[in-house]
Amino acid sequence: MYKPVKTELIPDVFWVGVNDWAIRIFHGYNTDEGSSYNAYVIMDEKPTLIDTVKCPFAQEHIERIQSVVELSKIEYLVMNHSEPDHSGAIAKVYALMPQATIVTNMKCKENLELLYPELKALNPKWLVVDNKSQLNIGKRTLSFVPVPMIHWPCNMFTYCQADSTLFSNDGFGQHLATAERWADQLPLERVMHLMKEYNANILGHLPVLLKNALVQASKLDIKYILTAHGVGWRGETIAPLLEEYSRFANQNYRKKVTIMFDSMYGSTARAAIAMSEGVKSTGAMVEVVDLKACSLTAVALHMYDSACFAFGSPALNSTMMPLVESAIGYCRGLKLLAGKTGVIFGAYGWAGAPTINDMTEALKKCNANVDEVKLQWKLQVNDEVLAKSYEQGVKLGMKALEVGK
Ligand code: FEO
Repeated sequence: MYKPVKTELIPDVFWVGVNDWAIRIFHGYNTDEGSSYNAYVIMDEKPTLIDTVKCPFAQEHIERIQSVVELSKIEYLVMNHSEPDHSGAIAKVYALMPQATIVTNMKCKENLELLYPELKALNPKWLVVDNKSQLNIGKRTLSFVPVPMIHWPCNMFTYCQADSTLFSNDGFGQHLATAERWADQLPLERVMHLMKEYNANILGHLPVLLKNALVQASKLDIKYILTAHGVGWRGETIAPLLEEYSRFANQNYRKKVTIMFDSMYGSTARAAIAMSEGVKSTGAMVEVVDLKACSLTAVALHMYDSACFAFGSPALNSTMMPLVESAIGYCRGLKLLAGKTGVIFGAYGWAGAPTINDMTEALKKCNANVDEVKLQWKLQVNDEVLAKSYEQGVKLGMKALEVGK
């Protein structure tokens, strides 16, 4: 009978996760390259499982664990996060290892008990840990680093000093299904792109807490980072990873303007193009995003490192176009516009000003700084409006050069 091949990443540390080759939407995020739910077994005197996987993959996960160790021999299950992509299989797994103690923080324990009554019914043993806790598993001792909001309040890193390994769960991940397990086994630019997309869409909303996580990680000697999604990081790939995280955590945005718009008959689109030429004339970078052809995932990726932005929408039934409203709402949740300078523009027909007013109100909720000059014109754009659009682009470009790094 076929058994999964053991995947030993570093001596005595095995990957026992699963690839989700087909997932294309992950709570609203377009995961064009799938994802993985990574879990690990540390084979020491007290075998320890780190994290589990999403529920539909429980059986494959169990078989992978069995390729390394019988579940009845596992003494600890460390849960770094309670979100169901990592915990969905927990009750099925724990039912096969009732001798084990579940090691986690109080917030995570509370969530797991709420999410899985079937786990609670198994009356598991719990060990609640915090940043002062140490767990000896034989030759190794594990410690724990709370990293709230990377990605939920319950998240923590688990650190193994003996192997200089950080089990980072959502931190440093990418949504990528792959047979490889390390970033250096793939073209690095591909992994870095997916990592940035993941940050923009998953972790991007709280740079202050991201900074805290980096400070905590910087106190540790780290040779290996084993993530819960995508590939892990080792050797020369760690420096560019931390540099990118640090850039975002410190809100060091690029000298870049992202212009997002929808258009009915091309009038608002022409203004967007003129604006982009104004930005370009300053030497700042510019991204032009026609929302009809661009997913929210890509919008977040463009905005993530942009210093400034513009939103354009014609009036539709006295308000903005739904794609524009949706993009602003998505950016609001991820705090991708907060503190950034932007302009709004667009054509109107019979509806007039309410479009711009609605956009202004929506952007206020994003804590964005919206330029008082609002470019609005009736029906067809003309040379005068195009010239103003270009000028607004110049202003945005100058601002991006001033505040971008
Ligand atoms: Fe990958 Fe927040 O779970």
